[in-house]
This record gives sequence, C-alpha cells and structure tokens, in this order.
Amino acid sequence: MKKLAAILAVIGILTSCNSGQNAEVQRLQAQVDSLRDNGYRPGLGEFMMGIQVHHAKLWFAGEAQNWELANFEMAEIKETMDGIKQYCADRPEVKLLKLIDPAMDSVNAAITQKNEQQFKSSYLLLTTTCNDCHHATQHAFNVIKVPDTPPYSNQVFTTQ
Ligand code: HEC
Repeated sequence: MKKLAAILAVIGILTSCNSGQNAEVQRLQAQVDSLRDNGYRPGLGEFMMGIQVHHAKLWFAGEAQNWELANFEMAEIKETMDGIKQYCADRPEVKLLKLIDPAMDSVNAAITQKNEQQFKSSYLLLTTTCNDCHHATQHAFNVIKVPDTPPYSNQVFTTQ
C-alpha cells in the first residue's frame, strides 16, 4: 500500500511538472506568435526600392568591368527577391517574380565570363523584364531604365 502511494505521489509530481512545462511552452509560443504578427515586415514597394538601388549600382559596376562588385550587386538583388518571396507571399504579383530568372541567369553568365558586351545586352534584358512584370501587375507607370548617373556620389564603382 505504501509502495502504491509512493508511485501515485511520483506520478502526481511528474504530471504536474509536465503540465507546468506545457503551460510554459504555450506561453512562449504565444509570445513568438505575437512577435511574428507585430514584427516589422517590409512591403513589396520597399523591397522594390532596394532592388532599384542595386539595379542602378549593377550598371556602373559592369560598365567599369568591376566584376566583383557586379557579382555582389546581383547577389543583393537575388537576396531581396528571396525576401519578397518570404515576406510578401500574400501578394498575388509575387507569383510572377520568376519572370526575371532567365534575365538574372544571363547577367550572371556575363559577369562570370567578364564579358562587357554580353553584360550590357543582358542588363537591357533584365531592365525590360522589370518593366514586363510592372506591366503584368498593373504597375506599368513604374518605368525602369538604364541609369545615366551613379545613384550615390560617395561610392567608387571602378576597381581599386
Ligand atoms: C513580380 C513582378 C515584378 C518584377 C520582376 C519586378 N517588379 Fe518592381 N514592382 C512590382 C510591383 C507589383 C510593384 C508595386 C509595389 C507596391 O505595391 O508598392 C513594383 C514596384 C517597383 C518600384 C517602385 C517602388 C516605389 O515604391 O517607388 C520600383 C523602383 C521597381 N519596382 C523596380 C524594379 C526593378 C529595378 C526590377 C528589376 C530588376 C523590378 N522592379 C522587377 C513587380 C515587379
């Protein structure tokens, strides 16, 4: 009888620990969920402005045959697009993002081959594709073009 009481007592302690732990897990999960909901999420337009800057810098890097910088700017564009897929999945336009993939591949190939002519034609293809998607998503008024002047005066685009 004593043994049974001891076993029951242990079971009692174990289940109370367990339910205490469950309550803690639930509390933490609720906190994680609320952080996720209240956390800052950039909008599609903000991601696009990031892409706009990298797109402009990419041109001056490629024109200067600074392939390391051009490669970096391409990686930044790719990373921003991944951010769009992750954070703007609720926007139906995001499904069209893959339109840009062939042009991205083409620019990447030109950079790998350090081919300035190919870079320039691929860059034009990339820029046309930005506009194609803007047309397809009722944002044709956002017109992207090859930049005339570097976006910032405090950055050097030539190789040092
Ligand atoms: C999914 C197709 C798609 C592709 C591909 C795309 N865009 Fe966009 N872009 C959009 C949409 C949709 C908006 C409007 C976003 C919003 O609602 O704020 C936009 C907005 C913009 C804006 C305006 C941002 C602002 O708030 O001023 C710029 C600049 C821009 N895109 C640049 C680019 C560039 C540069 C490329 C190519 C490298 C590109 N976009 C490729 C869909 C696309």
